[in-house]
Amino acid sequence: MEEKLIAIKNSALSIILDTSDKKTLEEIKLQFLGRNGQLTLAIKEIAKLPKERRPEIGVLANEVKKAIEQTLENQKLIIKKFESETKKEQIDTTAPGIQPKIGHLHPMTQVIYEVVDVFKSIGFQTADGPEIETDYYNFEALNIPKHHPARDTQQTLYLDTQNSKVTPGEAILRTQTSAMQGRVMEKIKPPIRVIVPGKNFRYEQVDASHSFEFWQVEGFLVDEQVRLTDLFGTIDYVLRKLMGEGTKLKFATTNFPFVEPGVDTYIECTVCKGKARLPNGQGCSFCKQSGWSEIMPAGMIHPYVLSAAGYNPKELSGFAFAIGLSRLVTLKYQMDDLRLLTNPDLRILEQF
Ligand code: DAH
Repeated sequence: MEEKLIAIKNSALSIILDTSDKKTLEEIKLQFLGRNGQLTLAIKEIAKLPKERRPEIGVLANEVKKAIEQTLENQKLIIKKFESETKKEQIDTTAPGIQPKIGHLHPMTQVIYEVVDVFKSIGFQTADGPEIETDYYNFEALNIPKHHPARDTQQTLYLDTQNSKVTPGEAILRTQTSAMQGRVMEKIKPPIRVIVPGKNFRYEQVDASHSFEFWQVEGFLVDEQVRLTDLFGTIDYVLRKLMGEGTKLKFATTNFPFVEPGVDTYIECTVCKGKARLPNGQGCSFCKQSGWSEIMPAGMIHPYVLSAAGYNPKELSGFAFAIGLSRLVTLKYQMDDLRLLTNPDLRILEQF
């Protein structure tokens, strides 16, 4: 008898839960609880059982009845809710939709596109290179041999080469997009005019003006009889296009192992307009109170770099430069904190 009652309960519950209309639910109710319903007939049989078994089976029968009634009620509510929701939807089809938010390019991407366009207009192609780089291209091919003091300025992040075939110290995160000079020069023949926008990595403490990752656009040109004045002319043209015709520039000498001579390009600070002080009388922290921002190191490609790439430095010459993109973006939009560039907060991004 117990098995019979349990079987009735199981079959009733499974049919009820499979039902999605009210009329069928009524039929099921009759099928189990009606006058000739399966459970009703089973309950009648309890009377035929030995007296001492009747209370126990009676309790079970009652539980089964309650379970079936409860499940019927629940299913009725579920069907009702579903019907009212679908009805609502039908009514709402004529209502105006919700306008989805449309995003836009990140300020860094916008500036990269602009830079690529300006260089394209004077014949430069764009190349892309690996962020995981070898010591050779990042340093050796750029006239920075092992133990050269210039390596100290590059706060290099070395990759763990355990369990790989790579010699320890050979695989690094590139510290400069200049690493692409060797790769490109080995692949294509002069005349070369190439820019490489990309991310670099250095072991730096993060603050308003430093980050462990930063964007640069490296550029280089190799041809016959390239002169320093070609470099000056190119920088002048490009920065006027990018920063506005009135942009004031100045050049100063500097040293990088892969160029000779080396040149630093400064533009007048866009925050204090070259005054080194802000209107409120405070010193401008953006340009460290100098009135100028260093934006584009450059120089004539060192003969060693040309030879390392298989060129004859007596026949060919060239220039190279790098634009600090993170700097360019912050100058252009007058942001006083580099960290805004990697902050995903939409309230910030929507301003650009
Ligand atoms: N690669 C240098 C750096 O990130 C910047 C640089 C300086 C690139 C002079 C050049 C150059 O092409 O000519 O520190």
